[in-house]
Amino acid sequence: MQKVTFLRSAEKLADCPEARQPEFAFIGRSNVGKSSLINLLTNRKGLARVSKTPGRTRELNFFSIDDQWILVDLPGYGYAKVSRKQQERFNKFVSDYLLQRSSLFGVFLLVDSRHPPQKIDLEFLGWLIESELPFALVFTKTDKSKAKVVQRNQAQFLEELAKISEGTPVTFLSSAMTGEGKAKILAFIRKAIERGS
Ligand code: GTP
Ligand code: MG
Repeated sequence: MQKVTFLRSAEKLADCPEARQPEFAFIGRSNVGKSSLINLLTNRKGLARVSKTPGRTRELNFFSIDDQWILVDLPGYGYAKVSRKQQERFNKFVSDYLLQRSSLFGVFLLVDSRHPPQKIDLEFLGWLIESELPFALVFTKTDKSKAKVVQRNQAQFLEELAKISEGTPVTFLSSAMTGEGKAKILAFIRKAIERGS
């Protein structure tokens, strides 16, 4: 990855940049490690803001990568400390974006590998499947638990997924600490771009 440029933030659909290049969006619950993974993928330490306070990324952030594709840091869902009204407005914006973005090649759904399947993640995953959006799973923060725990949580999550959908999703393990997952995720993106979908 040579060139990474911040394009813009958007708080409504009209603010999103033109949909001219393959786009990949990163989403997951607040604090799952979206910004950290984006910084890892782009080799830029402070590109996406890493939050001490969960729920800090409140808008969509668009980054141009090598003038070839667009990376989008989506706001975390499930942050309890915003008002319900704020949360709803927000969910609407994110879902409108995901459903309407013509250049969206794929969604990376980040799941914290430290925990067994969480309702909020399964609900969002169910929505992705219902909406027929192409997605891959990323189990984050693998450095924080023993490999066995990561494996067990991942297996349980995939079992829950099997209840609502056929087929096996593309799955990655990642750690912003060790760099695990970086090469594989970037190779997956490159292939998807070459394939044209
Ligand atoms: P919001 O934007 O608030 O939704 O959070 P986010 O999903 O962007 O998470 P962020 O990258 O800000 O990370 C949240 C916290 O988890 C920070 O303290 C990070 O340093 C930490 N963290 C993220 N990824 C990893 C990881 O792979 N390993 C470890 N050990 N810590 C991580
Ligand atoms: Mg963030």
